[in-house]
Amino acid sequence: MTPFELPTDIVDADAHRRVVAHLRERRVALPRFADLVTPAKADLAGVDRDSLDPRNLFRVHWWNDPTPVGALMAPRHLELPKALTGVDARIVVMLGRPFPIIHAHKVLAAYACLAPRLVSGLFDPTRLRAVWPSTGNYCRGGVAISRMLGCRGVAVLPEGMSAERFRWLEAHVADPADIIRTPGTESNVKEIYDACARLAEDPEAMIFNQFSEFPNYLVHYLATGSAAGAVYEAHRETAPDLRFAAFVAATGSAGAIAAGDRAKDDHGARIVAVEPLECPTMLYNGFGEHNIQGVGDKHIPLIHNVMNADLVVGVSDAATDDLDVLFNTQAGRRFLVERKGVDAALVGQLDALGFSGICNVLAAIKTARRLRLGPDDMLVTLATDGAELYDSEREDHLATRFGGSFDAVDAAEAFGRHLLGGDADHVIELGRRERDRVFNLGYYTWVEQQGVSVADFERRREQRFWRGLRDLVPAFDAMIDRTNRDAGFARAA
Ligand SMILES: Cc1ncc(COP(=O)(O)O)c(C=O)c1O
Repeated sequence: MTPFELPTDIVDADAHRRVVAHLRERRVALPRFADLVTPAKADLAGVDRDSLDPRNLFRVHWWNDPTPVGALMAPRHLELPKALTGVDARIVVMLGRPFPIIHAHKVLAAYACLAPRLVSGLFDPTRLRAVWPSTGNYCRGGVAISRMLGCRGVAVLPEGMSAERFRWLEAHVADPADIIRTPGTESNVKEIYDACARLAEDPEAMIFNQFSEFPNYLVHYLATGSAAGAVYEAHRETAPDLRFAAFVAATGSAGAIAAGDRAKDDHGARIVAVEPLECPTMLYNGFGEHNIQGVGDKHIPLIHNVMNADLVVGVSDAATDDLDVLFNTQAGRRFLVERKGVDAALVGQLDALGFSGICNVLAAIKTARRLRLGPDDMLVTLATDGAELYDSEREDHLATRFGGSFDAVDAAEAFGRHLLGGDADHVIELGRRERDRVFNLGYYTWVEQQGVSVADFERRREQRFWRGLRDLVPAFDAMIDRTNRDAGFARAA
């Protein structure tokens, strides 16, 4: 089966019967894609949001801990003031932390990739292990989703990822053998693919490759895109001239940036793809090691709608490492509040930004500078995970870069260098030729290495391909409805 053959009906009736019996026995009801966008009313009051209770599937959405904006509610987000960003444009960051179990939005992608195969009978949880290749959060999401569904989930990730990720996995996999460590760090995705190619030969394993699973694109177009739209619309209530200027996202699998396609369709927003400067694949066809964990993987994912992107921005991991220390140490926070006048309550929440979240904020600032955006322009971005996943990385950075202690002078230097002094360098505005250049780079991974046909590869150059994908969602939801009904659930939890 190629990534282009998505099931829209039950393909294996026997397997589907086993799926239904399995879900009925474990009392697992499945949310539809529509429920991930507009959550169904589910009574989850007594359900610990960190437990593997299957009812937490109904917390896989952006609305778990909404933020009031005037009289309205919007998905949880922070608005960063000019005192912090140095620009007039309004920058808001949607937070992945309120997502259940892994406190990152990657449960959304994992569920979306698994659900169509489960409810069509392609994935039989009584016989198969679900394999989740990733650089850290998607495999945690995949393990969480697998365990909620009562099946084995296998994490495949580089051995150099943060210790916190491995500790979480060790506590949540069904068997220690379900953690597979591949050589290298963040940008060693080829090594992950090689491990998956070996695993794919095992008839009891099914690979859910986020880089080529179009449901990852779809769920972010639908759920993250509508969440970003809700944040913008809530703010527009009190600022009628507000424009949705850009959706900004660093790309790992390029799932989350699909929200940009939605923001462009609904609000005319530009789409800004971000990557680490130390691994400038989209910018300069480059490669390299970096520490912005979760993004910048030395290739162009199959599910990246590159031809719809408007800008590419590079951010250095020197900046994200330093600002992580600024935002998460007493000296750094005191500097921001006492010397820069940033609201103490906001500073107290900056720990919701993991490395890639800080990277996204810096990219939004660069975009605002390059495009000369003003107070009527809003840039929406996101923090996939929070700083708690990087405590060990911070200790290392504190020791190697700051000699073990970070004081007010260090804080001023980090702030001045990376926030106020951040320029608009390493920003490309994409025209047709630049888009083609980035798109074509994907050929080497997908056609030469992974066996995608040239015709399928090329189809993705046109926007009608991506619109066509979205037409599949009602069929997914109809299969989910049918599976729930057969398993004895009227609808929802
Ligand atoms: C921390 C972090 N940030 C950003 C991303 C990138 O998101 P996406 O894969 O949707 O492009 C990931 C992906 O796993 C991640 O783990």
